[in-house]
This record gives sequence, C-alpha cells and structure tokens, in this order.
Amino acid sequence: MSVIKWPAEAIWEAVAPLLPGFTVEVLPEIDSTSSELMRRLRAGQPEPTLLVAERQTAGRGRLGRDWKSAVGDSLTFSLSLPLAPADWSGLSLAVGVSVAESLHPDLQLKWPNDVWLEGRKLGGILIETAGPGSTGRHVVIGIGINIAVPSADAAQGLSTPPAGLRERLPGIDAATTLLQLAEPLVRNVLLFEQHGFAAFQTRFARHDLLLNRPLRLSNGVEGIGRGVDAGGALQVMTSEGLQAITSAEVSVRPAGD
Ligand code: BTN
Repeated sequence: MSVIKWPAEAIWEAVAPLLPGFTVEVLPEIDSTSSELMRRLRAGQPEPTLLVAERQTAGRGRLGRDWKSAVGDSLTFSLSLPLAPADWSGLSLAVGVSVAESLHPDLQLKWPNDVWLEGRKLGGILIETAGPGSTGRHVVIGIGINIAVPSADAAQGLSTPPAGLRERLPGIDAATTLLQLAEPLVRNVLLFEQHGFAAFQTRFARHDLLLNRPLRLSNGVEGIGRGVDAGGALQVMTSEGLQAITSAEVSVRPAGD
C-alpha cells in the first residue's frame, strides 16, 4: 500500500507526448528502482518507464556504495528510456543541471553526479546503460534526493554530512519534488541526446561546486577546479598544468573538507 499520494497521472500527461509508450509506476517497496529497471531491460521489457519506490531495501550509489533513504523523507526513482547520443560523456552532469534548475537556484553540482546544498550532499545520480537489444541502447537514470534532513542515525558512516531539500523549500514533499523534476528531466535527456553535454556546459557552470576551489582527487591529483569542458571532463589546474579528469572511477572532494 502506498503511503504517499503520487502525481502519476500528471507526470504521465506531461511526459507521454515526449516519450511514446511511457508509463509511470509506483511501488511501496523494491530493492532498487534502478536494479528493477535494469532487470526489465535485460528481460526484454524496453518500455520507457519512470519507477518510483517509497522504500528501497538495497539502494545503490556510484562506485558500489549503498544509497540509504528514509520512507517519506526522501525521493527515490529511476527513469529508463532508449537513448542514442553520439557521445555519452557528461550525461550525469546534464541530469544534475536538470535537477538543480527544476528545484532551486541554490543547489550546487559536484562533478560528476552529486547534488549539494550549503556544503552538504542533498542527492545523487546513478547512470547505467543496457543493450543494445533489439530496441537499441537504453539508459537507466536513478535519482535519490533527501527531502527532510536525514537523522544523525541515518547520516552515520557517510563521508559527507547530508542536507535536505526542506532546508530551502519548507513544506515540500517527495511527490511535489517528483512532479517538478520529471518532465524537465525527460526534455533535458532528449536535448542531451541531440546536442551532447555542450548544450549544458554554461548551465552547469552556474551550479559548479568545485569551480575555483582547491580539490583533492582519489587518484592523488591535487589542484584547483577550473570548470568542466564541453565533453563533461573536470578541469583541474595542477602544478603540472591543466588536467582533464574523465574517469568515473575518480572521486573528488574540496580540499580541507
Ligand atoms: C550516488 O550518489 O552515488 C548516486 C545515488 C543514486 C541513488 C538513486 S535512488 C533511486 C535509484 N535507485 C538506486 O538504487 N539508486 C538510485
């Protein structure tokens, strides 16, 4: 039984004209909305789907990390659709731009996939692809957003203290957040398919958390963040000159944090 009233019909009405065959589905509980949509793609069910779960029992983050979220106090959903961009690089950044622009101008984006607010992590983006099957390559975009500030208990063990959207938007709930996100997300992903990250570079810069900040990368590189290039690579000015970081395996933090 759903505990939240989700705006599934309003989302469907806004998105279906952009994505033929689109469906919206709400589940009270699943291991992971992204795992479920990947399973469906592998099982030959390619219909574009937005799947939202009120509880994830095995939410996944990037680099094999867990994604923990509390029922009602967070939004966890994934969107699957067929996608054939000429170049996939920068898709998680374009999704981040869409999230930030849809929710609040104060939201910041930490390359390559985090949404931050006031120096703390508010949400994360997980991009996975499947295919090519008979219907071509598909992407599953998983998004998790903290709506309330997670409790100290839930925050235990996290490398970064978490933030909640209600700190900026008091009274907002997961359902309203999803309604604000869904249609622009689909529009922006389709824009990315046509034009790549270049269409988002300036927009990303407006929310770039790492711009002009001292950084430390997990591969040992240190330097100053100099923005993101048209291909979505993080530019870091090091003692040996400008380095472009593209590896999804690298994590980065503002030095001193
Ligand atoms: C990260 O910050 O490393 C990415 C977190 C992505 C979490 C979302 S929640 C909905 C979807 N289902 C998952 O298991 N993960 C993504």
